[in-house]
Amino acid sequence: MTATEIQIDGQTFPAQDGEYVLDVARRNGIFIPALCAHPLLKPYGACRLCLVEIQQGKRRRMVASCAYPVQAGLVVRTATDKISELRRGIVELLLARCPDSPPVRELARRLGVSESRFPTLYRAGEKCILCGLCVRVCHELVGAAAISFVSRGKERRVDSPFALGSEDCLGCCACVAVCPADAIAVRSDADTLNLMPFNNSVKMERCAKCGKPIAPLPLLALIRSRLSLQEPDRDGFHSDPDLIKEDGDAVERVPAGVAGAIHNQKIAASSFFLAKNLCADCRLERSAQALAAVAAQQRRAS
Ligand code: SF4
Ligand code: SF4
Ligand code: FES
Repeated sequence: MTATEIQIDGQTFPAQDGEYVLDVARRNGIFIPALCAHPLLKPYGACRLCLVEIQQGKRRRMVASCAYPVQAGLVVRTATDKISELRRGIVELLLARCPDSPPVRELARRLGVSESRFPTLYRAGEKCILCGLCVRVCHELVGAAAISFVSRGKERRVDSPFALGSEDCLGCCACVAVCPADAIAVRSDADTLNLMPFNNSVKMERCAKCGKPIAPLPLLALIRSRLSLQEPDRDGFHSDPDLIKEDGDAVERVPAGVAGAIHNQKIAASSFFLAKNLCADCRLERSAQALAAVAAQQRRAS
C-alpha cells in the first residue's frame, strides 16, 4: 500500500491508498455520522449522512466520505454549516420513518434535532432505517443472497422473494448481527429458526444425545462442504485415518474433541463437527469421558 497524506478539518493525517475518507476520519477520532458503512463491506452510499466537503485545487463539492477514496493533497471539511444542515435534514427524514429507533434518536440528539418537519407515513414501530447492511452482508460476505430491497418510496423494505421466505437462507444470523437498528427478530422453536420480517425459516440440527437444537442445518452443511472434512459418526467419533494414525495405537477411534485438542490444525473442524452432533453440555460431558479414557489407557500402557 502507498502512504499519502490528507487534510481533515485543518489537520494533516497519514492515509493509505485504497482507504476512504471515512476510514481516516474514524481512525483519528473525527466524528462523521455514518449508518450504512461497515469495514467488512464495500462502500454503498445509501444513508448520505457521511457527506463531507472536499476541495481539490479551487474546486469544492459534497461527497459521501464512506465511498470517496483518499488522494494525495485532498482537503476535507466535515462540519461546515451546509453539511450540518444537510445531515439534520436526513435525520429528520429518518425520524419520520422510525421515530422510536434508538440509533436514530441518538443521532438526532447528537446533531441537535428534536423533531421532524416531515409527516410519519410509515407503519407504527418501524425500525428499519434502510441502511442495506443486512442485504450486503448476506450477498457479499455470506454469499447466500437470501434477502434484498423490494418496492419503492415509503413501501421500500428488505424482504425475501415475494415475502415468502427464502430457501437460500442459511440461518447464519449475520444479518441480525450487522443490523444497527435491531430491526430483525430471531425466533426459534425446537425444530426451526425464523427470521422476521423476512419469513425465512430454517431447520435446526438437534443434539444427538439430548435432542436440544444446536445450529441451523443449512449453515452446517455449507461449512462442512467448504471445509471438505469428514464429520464424526453419530457417536461423536472421528474415523479420519490421519487422525487415528497420528494418535498412535492407543486409541482406535478418536473422539472428535480429543482429536481437536491434540492436533492444533484440526481444532476448529473437530470442535465444529462435534458441536454439530452434540450440544455444548453433551460435548463437554463427552470430552471429559474421552479424556478420562485416554488417561486410563496411558496408565495401563505405562
Ligand atoms: S440468516 Fe439468512 S438472510 Fe440472514 S445473512 Fe444469513 S443467509 Fe442471509
Ligand atoms: S433490517 Fe437492519 S440492517 Fe437491514 S436495512 Fe433495515 S436497518 Fe439496515
Ligand atoms: S455511511 Fe456513507 S452514505 Fe451511509
